[in-house]
Amino acid sequence: AVLTPFTDAMPRLADAVPTATTADADYYTINVQQSTAAIAPGALTSILSYGGGFIGPTIRATRNRRVVAKFTNSLTESVVVHLHGGHTPAASDGFPTDEIVAGGTKVNTYPNTQRAATLWYHDHLHMMEAPHVYQGLHGMYIIRDPWEDGLRLPSGRYDVPILLRDAYLNDDNSLLYDPFLDWTVVLANGKPRPYFPVAPRKYRFRFLNGSNHRAFSLTLSDGRPVVQIASDGGLLAAPVSTASIEISSAERAEVVIDFSGCAHGTQLFLQDATLGQVLRFDVTESCGADLSQVPAQLAASLPPLPAANRTRSIELSLTPDGNYFPINGQIFDPDRVDSRIALGSTEIWTITDVSGWEHNFHLHLVQFRILDVNGLAPDPTQRGWKDTVVIPKNGVVRIQASFTDYPGKYVYHCHLLEHASYTGMMATMVVA
Ligand code: C2O
Repeated sequence: AVLTPFTDAMPRLADAVPTATTADADYYTINVQQSTAAIAPGALTSILSYGGGFIGPTIRATRNRRVVAKFTNSLTESVVVHLHGGHTPAASDGFPTDEIVAGGTKVNTYPNTQRAATLWYHDHLHMMEAPHVYQGLHGMYIIRDPWEDGLRLPSGRYDVPILLRDAYLNDDNSLLYDPFLDWTVVLANGKPRPYFPVAPRKYRFRFLNGSNHRAFSLTLSDGRPVVQIASDGGLLAAPVSTASIEISSAERAEVVIDFSGCAHGTQLFLQDATLGQVLRFDVTESCGADLSQVPAQLAASLPPLPAANRTRSIELSLTPDGNYFPINGQIFDPDRVDSRIALGSTEIWTITDVSGWEHNFHLHLVQFRILDVNGLAPDPTQRGWKDTVVIPKNGVVRIQASFTDYPGKYVYHCHLLEHASYTGMMATMVVA
């Protein structure tokens, strides 16, 4: 479809409403259903949905307070729900074969024992996660904690989650899913190139790249740097001034943008290196005094890494026929155990690409630290807690993670979802 840019305002994502709340838990029921969404002007778009919208309701969690999420599946096919970045017991993690069959329900319990962070939940059904996520099975999940609340970062209506992803809309506004197509419409909270009215003050934006495989490299049109404050697993040790926001599929970057120097009526574009303009900020609102700040120290601590108990090599390759990307020579078999990890251990994983392609590597269960990328210290924006990391083509990335609790079977995989699904680029680990 040919779309006129900046026709619609970017919607704010709706928060999930608990069905019950107790002293230590919030309960939610989310229906996985067929629905329609007003993505572009004209016809409604048929989607798969958590709760009815194109982007599922944002679950707001508090550290050390459980979220008990009951998913009912009203589709005619199975689904699996995974909380990406969550430190989650195996039974609630959404292993690809842990299906919620059509008509079924499943209750996932998320303990939220981790730091404040921007996570997301999405489909993970074996061989189907790519089309399912593409059609709308994605939503955000935000954990807060008292430390972060005390920092006086921009909050409330000045703290704005934004799910960016690409899509291809047919002329009738239906979503076309073709794994080999380079989807060209970028959607911000489900709208193609929307505008977003802002006031002349600081905002916190929580960017999630919910694309199946597109990476974004985002800059502001006036050329100023942005201040990145958090990555996948929460706050960085200190704010990092960066020329561009780099997020591959599934990564999160939280930034603070200060519009206080902008005259009323200023338009500022967020633009992607490949796709051009993504979002227009219109400085047209007014506000009271901005009492928010970006403290020079953000994270309570990024503790020194514990000594590792063992190292593990992960090789990403390509089969000679060009059809599969095996991990350590094998394509995904959910019944096989690929890595056995001792409960309580700390491991260093050396992830090497020999396929000649860029991938991005996601590990369930833990947040890890990046030790080095091609032997060099990671970019300052990549030095906090991470659950997804780009593996440069023919490159080597070393990560370190501690498997402190929660035994069971989990997966790790390439988060370019077409690689995970169709080319077998997923493997299992059993923590015991
Ligand atoms: Cu975001 Cu295994 O997934």
